[in-house]
Amino acid sequence: MAKKLWGTRFSKITHALTDKFTSSIAFDQRLAKYDILGSLAHAKMLGKQKIIPQKDAQAIIKGLNIILKDVQSGKFEFDLDAEDIHSNIQELLVKKIGDAAFKLHTARSRNDQVALDIRMYLKSEINDLVENIVGLQKSILKFAKSSAQVIIPGYTHLQIAQAVLMSHHLLSYLEGLERDKTRLKDAKKRIDAMPLGACAFSGTSLPIDREFVRKELGFATLTANSIDSVSDRDFILEVLAALTILSVHLSRIAEDLILWSTNEFNFIDIDFSFCTGSSIMPHKKNPDILELIRGSVGKIHGDLSSVMILMKGLPSSYNRDLQLDKPPLFDAVDTMKDILEIFMALFGNIVIEKEAIISKVRDESLFSVDIVEYLIKKGISYRKAHDIVGRMVIDCLDKGKKISSLSNEQLKKYSHKLTPDIRNILNAQSSVTLKLSYGSTNPKLVAKQLDKWSRRL
Ligand code: ARG
Repeated sequence: MAKKLWGTRFSKITHALTDKFTSSIAFDQRLAKYDILGSLAHAKMLGKQKIIPQKDAQAIIKGLNIILKDVQSGKFEFDLDAEDIHSNIQELLVKKIGDAAFKLHTARSRNDQVALDIRMYLKSEINDLVENIVGLQKSILKFAKSSAQVIIPGYTHLQIAQAVLMSHHLLSYLEGLERDKTRLKDAKKRIDAMPLGACAFSGTSLPIDREFVRKELGFATLTANSIDSVSDRDFILEVLAALTILSVHLSRIAEDLILWSTNEFNFIDIDFSFCTGSSIMPHKKNPDILELIRGSVGKIHGDLSSVMILMKGLPSSYNRDLQLDKPPLFDAVDTMKDILEIFMALFGNIVIEKEAIISKVRDESLFSVDIVEYLIKKGISYRKAHDIVGRMVIDCLDKGKKISSLSNEQLKKYSHKLTPDIRNILNAQSSVTLKLSYGSTNPKLVAKQLDKWSRRL
C-alpha cells in the first residue's frame, strides 16, 4: 500500500486488516471524475491566490487533466490498495508530476472534498433521473392515448366499483411521477451549495477564494458554515426519500399491470419479449419484470433506512461513519435508473385487450352510483336513493339479473321516480360521460388532460 496521506505521525504501519476494513476505494471510485474536477478548480484557485506558485498550479492542472482523460475513457486503473479515491488520485498525481502534487491538498481536507464529490455526483444524477422519469411519463402517455376510448371497470378494495376511462387511470400515474420529479428537483436546490473551503471542519487561515471555486464548479451558492459543510448528509436523505416515494409509485403501477395481465382481469397483454417463463409449467408467461420493480421498493427503502440510521446520533463534524453513506446511495440511484429504463420500454410493449374489456363493463353493478345520482337529481335524498338502489342490488345484481331488463312496472316498485329513461344510463359510456366534476373521468375532461400532458412533456 502507498504511504498514507497521514502516515508520518504514525510510529507503525497499519495492520493489513485495518487497511482492508477502512478502505472505500472499492465503491467511491465512481466519484473519480468529480474528485478531479473539484481538484482542478481548487488548484486554479490556489495559483490565482498565490497560495502556491503558479507554475506548480499549472503542473497540477496538467497532471489532473491527463488523469481525467484516463478516467473518462475508462483507461484509469484504480489502485484497490488505496484508502479511497481521493488518496488514489493524489498518489497518481505525485507519480505523474512529482513534488508539485503535494501542494494540491493545501487548504483542503478529504472531509470537504468528499462532501463536494457527492454533491457534484448527485447534481448530475438528478438530471439523469429527472430525464428518465420524463421518458417513462412519455411512454405512459403514449399508451394512454392508444387507450383513449377504452372504458374499464375501476376497483376499490380490489372489488369492482365504477366505470372509468383506462386513459384516466393511466394519467393518474403521470401526476404522481410529476411530483416525484419536483421532489428531486427541489432536493437539488439544496445540494447546489459548494462546501470546499470548510477543510477539516473549521475553515482555514490561508487566503482562499471560495467564490472563485463555486463559479468554476457551477454551484448556485456556498455552504455557509464549515462544520455543517462536513457534518451533514441530509441532502442524501432527501434524495433517498424522494427515490423511495418514487419506487412506491412504481410498485403500484407495476402491481396494476400485473393484475391487469392476469387471465382473471385480462385487460392487457404484455409482449413475450418483456415476460419470462417457468422451468416446470410450460404454459406460463410471467410478469417477472413488474414483480422485480415492485420488489425493489424494499431495496431502495432499505437504502434510505441505512443512511438514516447511520446519521442518527452522530456527533457534529466529520466522522468516518459517513463513508458508509455511499454504497446505499449508489445502489438506490442505480436501481432506480434500471427500473425507469425497463419500465419505459415495457409500456411500449403492451396490447390492450379491448374485446375482453367490453364484456367486463356490462356488469351493471358498475352503475349503482349513477342510479343513486339519477334519483338525487330527481329530488330524492341521498340516503333514500342509496336504500332504493341497495334493494335493487339485492333483488337483481346479487342474483345475476340485470336492472336494465326490469319492466317499467317492476322499476316503479322501487321508486316512482325510476322512469324508463333509467335504462339509458346503464352503460359504461353514459356512466363516464355523466361525470362532470373537474378531474373526473368524463371523456372531454380526460381528452383535455391528455392534451395538457402532451404539451407539458
Ligand atoms: N473516504 C472517506 C469518506 O468517504 C473520506 C475520508 C475522510 N477521512 C478522514 N480520515 N477524515 O467519507
